[in-house]
Amino acid sequence: MGAMRLLGSSLLLLRLLVLGAGRLVPEDFLQKYGYLENEVLRRSNSAQFTEALREFQWVSHLPVSGVLDAATFLQMAKPRCGVADAESYGQWAKRVKTLLAGRDSKTGRKKRYLNLYQSKKWYKHHLTYRLLNWPWYLSEHQLRMAVKTAFQLWSNVSALTFQEVSEGPADIRLAFFHGDHNDGLRNAFDGPGGALAHAFFPRRGEAHFDNDEWWSLNSKGRNLFIVMAHEIGHTLGLEHSPVKNALMSPYYKKLGRDFILSFDDIVAIRDLYGAPSGGQATQLPGNQLLRFQEWSTNVHSGTETMPLGSFYCQSSFDAIAVDLNRNLYIFKGHHVWVVFPDGKASKPQLLQKRWPGLPTTIEAAAISQEDGRFYFFKGGRCWRYRDSALELGFPQKCRKGGLPRHPDAALYYPPLSHLVVFKGPKYYVVNEELLEVELYYPRSLRDWKGVPAAINGALAHHDGFTYFFKHDQYWKFNQSKLKVVATGKWATELHWIGCQSAKTGGTAL
Ligand SMILES: *[C@@H]1O[C@H](CO)[C@@H](O)[C@H](O)[C@H]1NC(C)=O
Ligand SMILES: *[C@@H]1O[C@H](CO)[C@@H](O)[C@H](O)[C@H]1NC(C)=O
Repeated sequence: MGAMRLLGSSLLLLRLLVLGAGRLVPEDFLQKYGYLENEVLRRSNSAQFTEALREFQWVSHLPVSGVLDAATFLQMAKPRCGVADAESYGQWAKRVKTLLAGRDSKTGRKKRYLNLYQSKKWYKHHLTYRLLNWPWYLSEHQLRMAVKTAFQLWSNVSALTFQEVSEGPADIRLAFFHGDHNDGLRNAFDGPGGALAHAFFPRRGEAHFDNDEWWSLNSKGRNLFIVMAHEIGHTLGLEHSPVKNALMSPYYKKLGRDFILSFDDIVAIRDLYGAPSGGQATQLPGNQLLRFQEWSTNVHSGTETMPLGSFYCQSSFDAIAVDLNRNLYIFKGHHVWVVFPDGKASKPQLLQKRWPGLPTTIEAAAISQEDGRFYFFKGGRCWRYRDSALELGFPQKCRKGGLPRHPDAALYYPPLSHLVVFKGPKYYVVNEELLEVELYYPRSLRDWKGVPAAINGALAHHDGFTYFFKHDQYWKFNQSKLKVVATGKWATELHWIGCQSAKTGGTAL
């Protein structure tokens, strides 16, 4: 801990606040962070601590008591941005006052407020940025598109412009780090969940992302685009916003159909830098910004250096299923790969070509071992195909039958002769014909001893085991012992998943 670089007061210590809960904290949590405990106890009575707690409660819509109660503690455990809320109120209050007072008003009240709250901002409008590193499983091309779009969100509604540089100095630098990364122990990353990222206010120009988080550029896992767009907001000088659907709210925001920037975000950035020169603000709805998030056909044209056959092997997939002839189907983005029983993978094929009527991407898939029919799930809907022919009456609103929206995975489970759908910490046993959840379900995932929550895919293999997949890991489940008996990395350890042949160049491209 000796040579740790201390940060300015602008970045603080959500983790310290969390620890301040002392005995309220679950034991494993304390063990994980135990080394910090003394420091917390030393600080937890200070006025600074109480003040930080009040700011936190304010920005989180909790009663502002300055006391660490159970509700506050629970709120703190939610995934969020690691930047402190310390001056959020000041910036927001100034924004509201400016709005109420009108743009040109020079009332004394406003002036007094300006003295109280000094904005941290850049004194130029054209800024450069540079992506220093990224997780191995993300495609560089997709990621650069995501970063560009994240900056565009802000430049499209303000007078700022951004330019990427690939080497040399840059105003804003984005980087991924594990755990302690010389920002001081307080700002060390904490593994999956908890603090996801943090950034420095101008004019330090750095945003850091937790490399132990499993980031994604689609709807599965932690969406990096949204978190980047938020942290970039900090590098531009924005504090946290108390408005619930604001991008600058400290809590992780899901990417949906809505606009990503709320009115409050736009007012905040304009307050610092003014409106775009043309006066026109452009903002596309969230679902139209998804294009870079899926590996779409235009990536084929040589910008991506990765061999196509191994594309899913390099990261993860959306869904997996096996048919009666022991062919494996692996779904990722717009594409499906078929891995034949000899372990060789086919060329990727567009989902919508193979199964006309499907959306461009799916969330879960299963194949009936009774009759070979394909089931696909996305959002609240499901599709059933015999070969490539959509059955009459589909897609259906499967939510009506009690199925969860946005399922994690589905499989056909031979011991029950039923479909099983997984979502978070629960599973649903589903009647194939009616697509209705059977009586007494959903039940807790604990029935599947050793299987983690929020899996990417699952299947019952003809070797008699059920396999569960999440990120780059698999879990092998014995159906009579009802527990996981092995776990490892699927791309290298499961020969039937089609990644070995891809590595030796044997893929049928
Ligand atoms: C920004 O505006 C441009 C031009 O109108 C548009 O093409 C682009 O998609 C917009 N980007 C975002 C992130 O809204
Ligand atoms: C699962 O465990 C049982 C009991 O130990 C064993 O008899 C069986 O062979 C295992 N299943 C498979 C597919 O190996």
